[in-house]
Amino acid sequence: MTKKYSYILAITGASGAIYGLSLLKALIEHSYFVHLIVSEPGFTVMKEELDIFKGGYNYKDKAKISNNVNPEISNFDAKQEILNAIKLNLTFNSNIASDAAFNSYFEMFELLDEKFLESKIASGSAKEVKGMAVVPCSMGSLARIACGISGNLIERAADVVLKEKKRLVVCPRETPLNDIHLKNMLSLYSSGAVILPLIPGFYNKPKTISDIVDFITGRILDSLSIENDIYERWEGYNGKYNEK
Ligand SMILES: Cc1cc2nc3c(=O)[nH]c(=O)nc-3n(C[C@H](O)[C@H](O)[C@H](O)COP(=O)(O)O)c2cc1C
Repeated sequence: MTKKYSYILAITGASGAIYGLSLLKALIEHSYFVHLIVSEPGFTVMKEELDIFKGGYNYKDKAKISNNVNPEISNFDAKQEILNAIKLNLTFNSNIASDAAFNSYFEMFELLDEKFLESKIASGSAKEVKGMAVVPCSMGSLARIACGISGNLIERAADVVLKEKKRLVVCPRETPLNDIHLKNMLSLYSSGAVILPLIPGFYNKPKTISDIVDFITGRILDSLSIENDIYERWEGYNGKYNEK
């Protein structure tokens, strides 16, 4: 796999971590290197939803975490756990299902600590970065990005992507929405971000969770202008749906 261009992917503490992992897999399969940042609440939700632990220690033990502040965690255990969760929860084309091919995914992403503001992706000078997606995006992260807080690497990277006029796709997950959420979404949209709520369609008759996740992943790739055939597109009444 080549690594010429890259995307930033942030997984924050909203429900739907599986969507983030699916996008990680898809970006790698499209030969993009991924700068993955998972917020601390993002790891909490990943633990609840996918049994992923951040490394070999209990992430809730703050004392241990502060002793472990290695900015570029590239944390082998956490990366391995993320890959294992992808393997367990998402479907693969038969041609990439071999262990050797799957192991190569490991080299295609780095896991960055949200506190690592010295990362190169905190600067607009990182020319290889094509864009960024926040999947899932909590209302907290959405608010802080909309206000330009830039207090952690997720918020700063999003700020940089917007100022460099690159594509920022934000995938909020909350229901119902209050006026603060809605105003923040409008504000981000007005600043050039794509707001892509994690709301799947059902016209393609999904049968598995993977089908539902693929629909959203395909729409995110569309928004990043990455060609894909991950999901079945609506082809109109003269298309194949008519024949079903
Ligand atoms: C199991 C679980 C599920 C959550 N789901 C959501 C959610 O769907 N949307 C949301 O905005 N916040 C959700 N939260 C709350 C966020 O994790 C919390 O607001 C956190 O501060 C967000 O931080 P972050 O944006 O830095 O990741 C959830 C929390 C937990 C523990």
